[in-house]
Amino acid sequence: MKFETLAIHTGERPDKAFGAVSVPIYQTSTFAFKDVGKTKGYDYSRTANPTRKVLEDTIAKLEGGQAGFAFATGMAAETTAIHLLKAGDHVISGDDIYGGTFRLFQDVMHKFGLEFTYLRMNSRQRIEEAIRPNTKMLWLETPSNPLLNIIDLEMAVDIARKHNLMTVIDNTFATPYFLRPIDYGIDLVVHSTTKYLNGHCDVLGGAVVTTTNELTEKVQFLLNAMGTPASPFDCWLVLRGIETLPVRMKQHEANAFAIANFLEGHPAVKKVFYPGLESHPGHDIARRQMKGFGGMVSFEINGGTEKVNSFLKRLNIFALAESLGGPASLVAHPATMTHVSMPEEHRKKVGITKATIRLSTGLENIDDLIKDLRRGLEPS
Ligand SMILES: Cc1ncc(COP(=O)(O)O)c(C=O)c1O
Repeated sequence: MKFETLAIHTGERPDKAFGAVSVPIYQTSTFAFKDVGKTKGYDYSRTANPTRKVLEDTIAKLEGGQAGFAFATGMAAETTAIHLLKAGDHVISGDDIYGGTFRLFQDVMHKFGLEFTYLRMNSRQRIEEAIRPNTKMLWLETPSNPLLNIIDLEMAVDIARKHNLMTVIDNTFATPYFLRPIDYGIDLVVHSTTKYLNGHCDVLGGAVVTTTNELTEKVQFLLNAMGTPASPFDCWLVLRGIETLPVRMKQHEANAFAIANFLEGHPAVKKVFYPGLESHPGHDIARRQMKGFGGMVSFEINGGTEKVNSFLKRLNIFALAESLGGPASLVAHPATMTHVSMPEEHRKKVGITKATIRLSTGLENIDDLIKDLRRGLEPS
């Protein structure tokens, strides 16, 4: 079956009990045993739950992995994934990752003895030079948040195999509709399902997809031991969102393309970051490894804080808000919002400035979106 069909039909659908076409929400913490030591397949919802199982199977299928796991948030998924390592291990990570991931690594995991090096992941030599005897993992985010940098997955996997490193990718921005990292040999995929997979800005969620028996067993153990899974109702919302993922992603991308082209020709805009543009340094790699370029567009405004603030205030349709991937267009100012937990010095080094703006292009009519941006960028 093709992607669009798998997004709607994976897992036990219709439900075995009564033939419900919408996956039932098994809103229960616990399950009665059939007999001493005998269950009907489930015993306690932290360990496993039938609604969650359909979501987990669906995400695993769409990513082409072995097993999926659904978490309470994207950060819960990442926290669980990073616990595959132990104190003393070293991780090489992209340098312009989501601010919350950077905070998890620097302010939480570092305390427990994990070591991190942050690099622009576009040079084989740079990555190989950073490898130490205790390096265990490459943490990849492509397209990255917020600068939409692209990592060549063939190169990353080649390096990882040569040096026996595990590869983990945050596939939140692209979604499996546009990028299937496991096809390139990536070991573990993580998601914030809060974003495009759910797609309606009404739930928090995360996912991990594994590729081997060993990883599947370890992630199942950690999810249960750490108590990080998603609730049945939240799983149901994400499942409902995934059914329309392909049609939504096509429209998000069409709107993003039009907006990136509009911004690239606007005199108030210094630089546009969108991997679909030929001017983007990762365009050729993105074109080769992705089926589409996604719905996120970032740009830098010409001018200082005043210009940025006046742009943000003048927008009517784009709401100033964290998060992304919903039907309503959102605008974020990474330096004071999504990436505020990243030290200013690090932000500067990677190119996130006070004039960097990130757009999550929604599903509204493109003429209205461009009109809104044009009004925002007018001279005051
Ligand atoms: C790329 C990326 N990964 C992970 C996360 C964390 O997800 P959550 O907010 O669901 O915990 C985010 C949130 O913005 C994100 O943008």
